[in-house]
Amino acid sequence: MPFEKNILCIGAGYVGGPTMAMIAAKCPQYKVVVVDINPEKIRAWNNGPLPIYEPGLDEVVNKARNKNLFFSTEIEKGIKEADIIFVSVNTPTKTFGQGAGQAADLQYWEKTARQILAQSDRCKIIVEKSTLPVRTAEAMERILNNNPKGLHFEVLSNPEFLAEGSAIRDLEKPDRVLIGSHETPEGLQARRELVEIYANWVAKEHIIESNIWSAELSKLTANAFLAQRISSINSISALCEKTEADINEVAYAIGTDSRIGPHFLKASVGFGGSCFKKDILNLVYICQSYGLTEVAAYWESVVKINEWQEKRFVQNMLANMFNTVAGKKIALFGFAFKAHTGDTRESAAIYVTRWLADENARIVITDPQALDNAKLDLADIKEKIEFETDPYRAAQGAHAIALLTEWPLYRSLDYARILKTMAQPAFIFDGRNILDHPKLFKMGFNVFAIGKAALKHF
Ligand code: UDX
Ligand code: UDX
Repeated sequence: MPFEKNILCIGAGYVGGPTMAMIAAKCPQYKVVVVDINPEKIRAWNNGPLPIYEPGLDEVVNKARNKNLFFSTEIEKGIKEADIIFVSVNTPTKTFGQGAGQAADLQYWEKTARQILAQSDRCKIIVEKSTLPVRTAEAMERILNNNPKGLHFEVLSNPEFLAEGSAIRDLEKPDRVLIGSHETPEGLQARRELVEIYANWVAKEHIIESNIWSAELSKLTANAFLAQRISSINSISALCEKTEADINEVAYAIGTDSRIGPHFLKASVGFGGSCFKKDILNLVYICQSYGLTEVAAYWESVVKINEWQEKRFVQNMLANMFNTVAGKKIALFGFAFKAHTGDTRESAAIYVTRWLADENARIVITDPQALDNAKLDLADIKEKIEFETDPYRAAQGAHAIALLTEWPLYRSLDYARILKTMAQPAFIFDGRNILDHPKLFKMGFNVFAIGKAALKHF
């Protein structure tokens, strides 16, 4: 039986792969093809182990792969066959020219749009899945619709809100799906087609429809607001350390105000991930380009506080370890930007490692999922770093442990056993506030957490 719709996704990364797997698993009546320029990645999606670690992803992929879900490098063939094309290629921060360090680098997006145009002989719906600057759809439509073939492409914005580590849950039961389109008859028709796809498993009241610019801007704004909460609580954590207030108590007290709410108030060594910094800097750049200097400065400060928090963590280590870590072994527990992922993009651990390496510390990194990515991130200083899968061995002979990712396993380690193997005095810097600090202190550790008074024996 032929499939009802042919869906293509360009970009088989953290966003494209899981999202398309979910659509295929929920909609057996559609054929879903995911293409990517990277043949290694496609091989991994086809034969495993999957190129990304995401709890529950294997099951979803296995359910649909080679039935109605296909991974391929044949981008041109995929474009030709598709009725709806999701574009989920990466949009990193520009590293060159105008807007370097802030603006989004749209070269892959534009290249993809031109490729779609070249391979199309009928009208198609194009869906922006990547996070893009507001009004990107306008540029894309200019490229797509100025064609001698007389084809019309309707561009929709359908930003992805999944968080890594909980992607499958987020995709299965999203708080909302956001679909933005032009409010023309063609735009509204395309919008209805996309709503129909999600309505296969998402209740209609969770599908939000808007104009296309609102959808584009909402994604940037959602990430900016989430990151802003973390920078806000992290800024207060510094004040707690000076005043003997406890950041967990403060976060709980403010979070019980229903207007504030309890989420995203965990003080930490700093937020990471592929999106927050990139998207905020992108927002900053857009504001500047519209002459909104104050708005730009306001959002930029969210990123600045985060960088300061990461730096503050290392400065605190140095200050408490008698102002020198040169030659001292330091074990880093966790390298992923958060637990339950192997992703290390923009992880605070990268910055912490580099600053400690500049201080000539002997660094040992352990992480249950992220060591391969850590090796790539630190390739230029690899002679200064050891990688170790076993946290007990990582801590052996170390002067300090710095806990950088909130993996639950680090909570259940036998710290009394670890302490015996460490150099004395032994330090723990808990960058995620997940350990039992009074217990560790009683054991003999000097304990430094985020936003709490230090517990030291000297
Ligand atoms: C990325 C961004 O991080 C996110 O902000 C944006 O919303 C979507 O793109 P992610 O899926 O995490 O999300 O990126 P990544 O895992 O790097 O996947 C992008 C994929 O696109 C890569 O596999 C890359 O090989 C592929 N790609 C890139 C193409 O297939 N064609 C290109 O021209 C460029
Ligand atoms: C984020 C958004 O949540 C998601 O909606 C969007 O689609 C992509 O960007 P992600 O980067 O996967 O998702 O992870 P998220 O859970 O938001 O965490 C980002 C960073 O903030 C992590 O480093 C995390 O450890 C940190 N964080 C989060 C805190 O430090 N404190 C908190 O209270 C919450």
